[in-house]
Amino acid sequence: MCGITGYIGFRDAYPIIINGLRRLEYRGYDSAGIVLYNEGKLNLVKTKGKVSDLESKVANSIETGGTLGMGHTRWATHGIPNDINSHPHVSQSGNIVMVHNGIIENYDTLKKELVNRGYTFQSDTDTEVLVNLIEEVQKQNDVKLGKAVQIALNEVVGAYAIAVFDQRKPDEIVVARLGSPLAIGIGKDQLEYFVASDASPFIEYTKDAIYLEDEEMAVIRLGRKVKIRKIKDDSLVDANVHELKLNLEQIEKGGYEHFMLKEIYQQPSAITDTYRGRLLREEAIIKMAGVEDNMKRFLNADRIIIVACGTSWHAGLVAEYIFEDLARIPVEVEYASEFRYRNPIITEKDVVIAISQSGETADTLAAIKLAKSKGAFVFGICNVVGSSIARETHAGAYTHAGPEIGVASTKAFTTQITLLTLIALRLARAKGTISSSDFRQHMLELEMIPKKVEQALKSDEHIQKVAAVFKGATNFLYLGRGYNFPVALEGALKLKEISYIHAEGYPAAEMKHGPIALIDENMPIVVIATNKGHYDKVVSNIQEIKSRKGKIIAIVTEGDETVKDIADYAIEIPETEESLTPLLTTIPLQLLSYHIAVMRGCNVDQPRNLAKAVTVE
Ligand code: AGP
Ligand code: GLU
Repeated sequence: MCGITGYIGFRDAYPIIINGLRRLEYRGYDSAGIVLYNEGKLNLVKTKGKVSDLESKVANSIETGGTLGMGHTRWATHGIPNDINSHPHVSQSGNIVMVHNGIIENYDTLKKELVNRGYTFQSDTDTEVLVNLIEEVQKQNDVKLGKAVQIALNEVVGAYAIAVFDQRKPDEIVVARLGSPLAIGIGKDQLEYFVASDASPFIEYTKDAIYLEDEEMAVIRLGRKVKIRKIKDDSLVDANVHELKLNLEQIEKGGYEHFMLKEIYQQPSAITDTYRGRLLREEAIIKMAGVEDNMKRFLNADRIIIVACGTSWHAGLVAEYIFEDLARIPVEVEYASEFRYRNPIITEKDVVIAISQSGETADTLAAIKLAKSKGAFVFGICNVVGSSIARETHAGAYTHAGPEIGVASTKAFTTQITLLTLIALRLARAKGTISSSDFRQHMLELEMIPKKVEQALKSDEHIQKVAAVFKGATNFLYLGRGYNFPVALEGALKLKEISYIHAEGYPAAEMKHGPIALIDENMPIVVIATNKGHYDKVVSNIQEIKSRKGKIIAIVTEGDETVKDIADYAIEIPETEESLTPLLTTIPLQLLSYHIAVMRGCNVDQPRNLAKAVTVE
């Protein structure tokens, strides 16, 4: 994981790099570093901690001049987060400097060879091995930096996005990618270039970007067009220049205390953006190019396999209910990390749907590649436009939720469910498994969801009070049934991630098969008890909890009396179709975990040990 950024051009590199690192900090934040080239000298500062720590250290230690530089915000894989292990890493001679995102899997073998050749290492990282390997290759072969990088990378097993320069040749940066993202921003008249893990560090400078594909590299030289080459055989590849649609406002907090809160509150508009132009209620049509163009594949599918991780996997679980219920297509939902390694049975008649907010999750990407190699049709549901998964899949649809910066996923989840619901409805219509009146009713209800989410958000103050009561808890249980079982899992994940309170999600009826033993007067239990589905059964589960003195926080439908009477606290959501309830029941659970985390003094947007895009296995 981690974020890398670089600049070469005519402006001061420092502010561009440091701002860029701030925007990339969601990708990793255990240490940070920067290198600036100025008047024949490298100025390097590295520190454990966040980009703000780096800024303070820079202020006290170096001149920040120079029009060439690179920065890194790390999520450690090899070596603990400390100053020395932070990037950039410099080769033994002090000439070649590199930032790296990913893992060099054969670093140990390479390191031993380099040690035999007299290299010594300062850090425990795999990255320092690679930068020294590049130096050694250059020495042995007497080649330019680009060539040396290429030869070295052909010896490397693993994943990387790298940016490298040589202080003896300060008019170029060499970049390469395999498995981790890398974007190149092209300045006007090639007078400047930007390099970054995503386009956010340079959106105010240019709208033209090239996204490197896997196994590609480029030598970026001022005053020259970027040429993309294959790392393996040096063949030239057409450089696809994308026009960026992002703007600055989209990646700033907009008055909210945290990105996560902003993103929770953005859900009404994000959900609308997901169905806009796709749900045409008056014409009673749902259309998505990626689905229409591949309708036969979907309709002939023996089953749909959904692969994803984390929150996106939870969206997949909700989709299982929706697809089976509405479209009557068998669905299997798999953790991408398990699927990729367990030799799964995949046939050409399978449709695989990969769900990923970032579009960069390494396990999901590997699962896609595996499914493709077995002939399955792979459909991607991503939020980040142009991401690796969006490009790797045969077809797909974007959620259009806008940038999600908070590490804990919120609007990505509800927009994924929205999109999956649209697909399920479209397929149900095509298969004739839904009546025309039910279809219209679902469309109408889905269109009303953003207003209802707004309504649900109005419970915020009440939820804050509930959070204050339970902020000291050490454990939480989340229970739900049917469509709301995955929501219970998601609620528990949100709490764990940002407040570090242990939490478990369970199907409500499973409670009696084990977790009930945990219940006493200290155990808060969040129960999703909306009025459709298995309401009476859930009411019985609540009674069982009550009898054991557990503290009940119930999510109920507006107007509910029964559960309100029994529960210690009740939070209302508006009524809707059962299949759409996850879009509403999720909201109070997001707010509850948010407020508990804030009250516990946790870093909500950057929880410990996590990163936004998990680009390592
Ligand atoms: C969500 O809150 C998590 N941070 C995490 O589980 C995330 O959903 C998972 O890593 C998958 O990410 P993706 O959607 O970008 O593939
Ligand atoms: N493997 C490198 C390290 O541990 C890079 C990790 C990252 O992607 O941040 O330093």
